[in-house]
Amino acid sequence: MNKSINLKQRPVGTPTLSDFEFEELDDNLTISDGEILLESNYISVDPYLRGRMSDAKSYVPPFKVGEPISSGIVAEVLESKNEKFQKGDFVTGLLEWKEQQISNGEDLQKIDKSKAPLSAFLGIVGMTGLTAYLGLHEIGKPQKGETLVVSGAAGAVGSVVGQIGKILGLHVIGIAGTDEKIEILKSEFGFDHGINYKTTEDMKSAIEAAAPNGVDIYFDNVGGPISDAVLFNINQFARIINCGAISVYNNTEIPMGVAVQPFLVKNSALMQGFIVSNYADKFPVAMKQLSAWLGEGKLTYKETIVEGFENTPQAFLDMMDGKNKGKMIVKV
Ligand SMILES: NC(=O)c1ccc[n+]([C@@H]2O[C@H](COP(=O)([O-])OP(=O)(O)OC[C@H]3O[C@@H](n4cnc5c(N)ncnc54)[C@H](OP(=O)(O)O)[C@@H]3O)[C@@H](O)[C@H]2O)c1
Repeated sequence: MNKSINLKQRPVGTPTLSDFEFEELDDNLTISDGEILLESNYISVDPYLRGRMSDAKSYVPPFKVGEPISSGIVAEVLESKNEKFQKGDFVTGLLEWKEQQISNGEDLQKIDKSKAPLSAFLGIVGMTGLTAYLGLHEIGKPQKGETLVVSGAAGAVGSVVGQIGKILGLHVIGIAGTDEKIEILKSEFGFDHGINYKTTEDMKSAIEAAAPNGVDIYFDNVGGPISDAVLFNINQFARIINCGAISVYNNTEIPMGVAVQPFLVKNSALMQGFIVSNYADKFPVAMKQLSAWLGEGKLTYKETIVEGFENTPQAFLDMMDGKNKGKMIVKV
């Protein structure tokens, strides 16, 4: 029986399994002209999905209660009546959390599995790799010798940001939530320093010690108190890439923190919100560079792969809770 995973109710605070429901669907799917039948292979679980589970206004519309959740998915074409796709092709794009589904193929990209493993198209050669590359370049404007701090450093986006920083000759400091992750940052991703925010009492001083010349670029994936501590250490003309704020995604009230304005004024610093889809015209250039670095062995990546479609909601909850190293993906 084909199944979907739907949003059962809008989570209040931290989501739980009871916010999701499974629905049994007709598995006798018949395609019409222009359509393709897809079988999901890999599902991406991402922090931004938390925002779509609420009904607050954002850059993407909220999910509807009682309807399937959607995210980046890699799928195989089982049947095609669309001239752009053939049976056996693999595609990626925004699809619904269903084992099988029909699509008209719009906004789906064919992927070449000889270029990278299928799952990588949801991470390093997909949305999160592009986010790392474009956020760092377009807003961070990195210059050799500068100091880069990355929060959420051992995750999908953060681990790539730090590695690109090293390729470009920056001094790179990563902030993450376990000692094991800090070790991985240094031994596998080449970061110069790592700070475990869960065991460090004085984050402001820890950042100061790791960045004796101050912080020129802050790639912010988490917001909240970690980012407040970074602000105390920024240099003149620092650039802050406001990529994500996972530390406050489950808040039920507007989060309060340090007022940023005096830090920005005093340092002539830039803080800018970043949404990767606003840079779609730059995807081909970014993808070419990411693929080249991967091929040359300058860039590596980690995935935490959870097996089984039925475990997708738990994988999402675990990612929000920091159980992933690198990109969290479900193998259907
Ligand atoms: N703007 C865009 O276009 C765009 C695109 C993609 C992603 N993003 C954002 O980038 C960020 C990272 O996304 P990702 O896909 O790479 O996820 P990820 O980093 O792979 O996974 C999320 C990580 O967040 C950390 N985390 C959870 N709660 C935290 C807290 N209270 N304080 C600090 N860290 C916490 C956890 O690691 P620890 O163990 O270290 O806590 C967890 O592993 C998210 O904020 C996401 O919304 C933005």
